[in-house]
Amino acid sequence: MSLFPILSFVVISFGVASVSAQICLNNGNFSSNSTFNANRRIILSFLPSNVTTQDGFYYNGSIGEGPNRVYARGMCIPGSTADDCSDCIKTASDGLVQSCPNQTEAYSWPGDPTLCLVSYSNTSFSGSVDSDGRVIFTNTGDITSNITKFTEIWEDLVVRMIDIASAPKDTPSSSNNYYTANIAALNPFQDIFALMQCTPDLSSGDCEYCLRQSARDYQSCCGKKQGGVVMQQSCFFRWDLYAYSKAFDNIMVASPPPMTIRSIPPSAGAPANQNDNRPSNSHDRNRRGISTGIVVAITVPTVVIVLILFSLRFVLCLRRTSLQRTKYEC
Ligand SMILES: *[C@@H]1O[C@H](CO)[C@@H](O)[C@H](O)[C@H]1NC(C)=O
Ligand SMILES: *[C@@H]1O[C@H](CO)[C@@H](O)[C@H](O)[C@H]1NC(C)=O
Ligand SMILES: *[C@@H]1O[C@H](CO)[C@@H](O)[C@H](O)[C@H]1NC(C)=O
Ligand SMILES: *[C@@H]1O[C@H](CO)[C@@H](O)[C@H](O)[C@H]1NC(C)=O
Ligand SMILES: *[C@@H]1O[C@H](CO)[C@@H](O)[C@H](O)[C@H]1NC(C)=O
Ligand SMILES: *[C@@H]1O[C@H](CO)[C@@H](O)[C@H](O)[C@H]1NC(C)=O
Ligand SMILES: *[C@@H]1O[C@H](CO)[C@@H](O)[C@H](O)[C@H]1NC(C)=O
Repeated sequence: MSLFPILSFVVISFGVASVSAQICLNNGNFSSNSTFNANRRIILSFLPSNVTTQDGFYYNGSIGEGPNRVYARGMCIPGSTADDCSDCIKTASDGLVQSCPNQTEAYSWPGDPTLCLVSYSNTSFSGSVDSDGRVIFTNTGDITSNITKFTEIWEDLVVRMIDIASAPKDTPSSSNNYYTANIAALNPFQDIFALMQCTPDLSSGDCEYCLRQSARDYQSCCGKKQGGVVMQQSCFFRWDLYAYSKAFDNIMVASPPPMTIRSIPPSAGAPANQNDNRPSNSHDRNRRGISTGIVVAITVPTVVIVLILFSLRFVLCLRRTSLQRTKYEC
């Protein structure tokens, strides 16, 4: 278990359909009337236009001086329209201001109407993997078909996708943008829809490390579940048994494997093979070494999801703000 030096587990189930979470890291706080907060609001409010006016829909920038300097960045997946991208960045930025009232570092990966990332911090984005504040969401439902077969297909897809997403730019198999979405046929009735992306500041090796860590974390806790999301500040991974994003609209499904019988109960003795997803240098590069907490706020719709937080310690306070919204806040 040395792979999880900062693992502590909380599992919470609640009703959700699309995942839209804001992850607020308690690495420091500021008062609401501070210059830092004013700068944060300004740079986040500019993000929708700053991101969509950049080729490739990636923008990073900073505002302010000294301790009041705020770094922020925004990114949309390739293929997004400018309108979808702008809406997504705005949702994320507004959500962060609302859900993270006084945390100096936070991020969000909303999936609607496209997939995008917004994050801000009081330090510059380092260009290395920041594993602080990574979070897993998973469906509570289990895979009902042959789990051995499922794991084989899932691993094959995920390993191939990590290779494509993280391949060095300008190499033959490279996506050139640290992004890939793909579909694999699980059986004649079900497909696996997977999507992954790294931030462009990472090296190819760090992108691979980040995605492998996400896949490994997911598999070690939740390998029999019917779908999941792993969010980190530097990379994103999601898979599900339905097309949860416009990203899948133009992707052909590879020919289905031979006919299999559905609804075979999961075999209890089939451990997920974690070795395939383990990076050779599996050390945790925890930037500060002292993650003091995470606050996660989730906007909720309707399928059951389990949330797992990786952190030294964190506090969750449940507050229901409306029928549509459940908020964890402290
Ligand atoms: C960022 O905030 C943390 C926590 O308040 C603090 O320790 C650190 O010095 C700050 N960094 C900068 C560059 O201001
Ligand atoms: C946040 O502020 C509170 C008091 O307002 C303080 O007790 C706490 O230590 C601060 N947390 C961090 C991580 O700076
Ligand atoms: C940060 O916000 C929390 C709750 O929103 C509050 O209890 C805490 O005192 C705030 N800390 C600072 C330094 O404003
Ligand atoms: C913020 O407001 C508090 C009182 O509400 C005040 O003591 C403090 O000096 C203010 N800070 C700034 C930076 O204006
Ligand atoms: C970001 O957007 C603001 C407001 O639209 C604009 O003033 C600023 O020049 C933009 N910055 C960049 C680097 O495009
Ligand atoms: C934006 O990203 C580029 C490339 O990673 C980096 O060189 C630059 O310093 C970043 N700018 C800011 C303000 O963080
Ligand atoms: C499950 O799939 C594996 C690998 O495809 C196969 O060897 C095994 O016979 C299957 N089990 C059942 C019960 O169909």
